[in-house]
Amino acid sequence: MAIGPRMMRLRPLAVLSAMLFATWTDQASAQIESRRSAAELMDAVMWNREPIGGAFALTDQAGRARTDRDFRGKYLLVYFGFTFCPDVCPTDLQAIGLAMDQLGARADAVQPLFITLDPARDTVAQLAQYVPLFHPKLIGLTGDEAAISRAAEAYRVYFKRISFAKDAADYTVDHSAFVYLVDPEGRYLGFFPPGTPAERMVEMIKPHLR
Ligand code: NI
Repeated sequence: MAIGPRMMRLRPLAVLSAMLFATWTDQASAQIESRRSAAELMDAVMWNREPIGGAFALTDQAGRARTDRDFRGKYLLVYFGFTFCPDVCPTDLQAIGLAMDQLGARADAVQPLFITLDPARDTVAQLAQYVPLFHPKLIGLTGDEAAISRAAEAYRVYFKRISFAKDAADYTVDHSAFVYLVDPEGRYLGFFPPGTPAERMVEMIKPHLR
């Protein structure tokens, strides 16, 4: 993938993230993670064995309450991750942003959502800094741990906090990284695997927008 202006703008964020990481020593909270195994959840999504998606009630990067119902009438690209993610999330969010650009006027019918799996660190303020790096229309969503867990469960997302050291605040979040496509009535259509390039997303979304 070519290094574009968006990727360039990520650099100061990486520095900021590293600084925050280093000073985040006394804000550890209770751990939240999937109750089901990674294999079980991947199986549910990959083979379409269970219903995917559903209701959520979260808060966006402007501090506004948002539910799934606010987005009826739009196709949704729903992605779960965390802002401190070193590579997978930025790569997929960049692909989503590029896909929005490439859809041109048709992007009006599409709303990309980034739902954090790390609400302890991904506050409204943190999301407000992070999501505009990828696309002006990208909405970041956070919430309390119960609300995040419910949303993740609905989308069959696997996530687990992995501590690096004895310092419990120094952690990463292992997570599944599908990009879910939801129709204007809130019905799940399917997923793009992690690493799907923008061009392919556009090619596959366009037929739905006719
Ligand atoms: Ni990630």
